[in-house]
Amino acid sequence: VSQNRRIVLAARPIGLPKESDFRLETVPIPEPADGEVLVRTLYLSLDPYMRVRMSEGRSYASPIALGEVMIGGAVGEVERSRDRRFAPGDLVEGRVGWQEFGAVPGGSLRPVDCGLGPISTALGVLGMTGLTAYFGLLEIGRPRPGDTVVVTAAAGAVGSIAGQIARLAGCRTVGIAGGADKARSLRDRFGFDHALDYKAADDLAGAIAAAAPHGVDVFFDNVGGVIADAVMDNLARGARIVVCGTVSQTSLARPEFGPRAQAKLMAAWASMQAFNVYQFRDRHEEARARLAAWLRSGQIQHREDIVDGLDRAPRAFTGMLRGENSGKLLVRVAARKAAP
Ligand SMILES: NC(=O)c1ccc[n+]([C@@H]2O[C@H](COP(=O)([O-])OP(=O)(O)OC[C@H]3O[C@@H](n4cnc5c(N)ncnc54)[C@H](OP(=O)(O)O)[C@@H]3O)[C@@H](O)[C@H]2O)c1
Repeated sequence: VSQNRRIVLAARPIGLPKESDFRLETVPIPEPADGEVLVRTLYLSLDPYMRVRMSEGRSYASPIALGEVMIGGAVGEVERSRDRRFAPGDLVEGRVGWQEFGAVPGGSLRPVDCGLGPISTALGVLGMTGLTAYFGLLEIGRPRPGDTVVVTAAAGAVGSIAGQIARLAGCRTVGIAGGADKARSLRDRFGFDHALDYKAADDLAGAIAAAAPHGVDVFFDNVGGVIADAVMDNLARGARIVVCGTVSQTSLARPEFGPRAQAKLMAAWASMQAFNVYQFRDRHEEARARLAAWLRSGQIQHREDIVDGLDRAPRAFTGMLRGENSGKLLVRVAARKAAP
């Protein structure tokens, strides 16, 4: 193979992205410069933050330029290396983007330890999403045994793990997700004590009050918007609100108006704190080891939603922003050359 297939940003989306906002291109495989590593992508991670980076001037990070390769984390195999730390055949994780081959700085890559779990888990439960659940819940949410923890987008990659860590911390867990199938999986697969389908609820705040009669001590929020408003009507005294993400707002031209948070926080003596998984970078390996042990012992379950073929990434990504994924959304781009 001498060609690289890649997906670039073709147009800035208005509202929910469309498949035509992306373009598949075939170009020569890049040559790694000194200090760079050529990585052949095996799995590509699809994540809500990518939607933010497709728009101009809306983010803490710079937008993707038109015609530029879509950004994204991937696990892959080292094809060629001009960094002494890596050799052909090594498994690595890093920002390769939506493409079959990427030349990336060696210093930005993380070696993947196959002993911890299947390769794909390096992007999910043992990767960025699992670490987000871990630090968001334990460090920002600070759960105590007996607390009631509510998680939104609870059947998703981050939410499903956050809920299970809360249960391991001795909490009662309430998961909120869209659709009857997801609500069922919250109870049957991920062990939530209560599951609420926000799409079927006429009175979501009332349903949360019934599931959390003593109030919500920790609210792990992935979505924002009206679902978060309903949870915030049910805060217990001293509640901690973990602002993990606002996926319900990212495709809107302007954030929705809603009730202001201050009065609700004051009434409950509550705190609200956003975080970024990379602020805990120094502790990622310690957390990964704990997540791997829980996974091995069966104390946490994870679910992956795997789509085959790079060309299907745009469709899968736009579907995720409509809630079509169940668990960690990944694209299988290629198979490993030599089985481990
Ligand atoms: N702070 C950090 O460092 C950090 C790091 C990683 C991820 N995050 C955030 O964590 C959140 C979850 O990410 P993920 O990768 O685990 O994705 P995910 O939950 O697997 O997928 C996104 C889910 O969001 C829900 N959703 C989409 N549009 C929605 C809408 N308009 N209203 C309500 N729900 C909607 C859908 O679930 P339903 O079908 O249940 O609606 C969808 O399945 C995101 O907000 C992401 O930005 C934060």
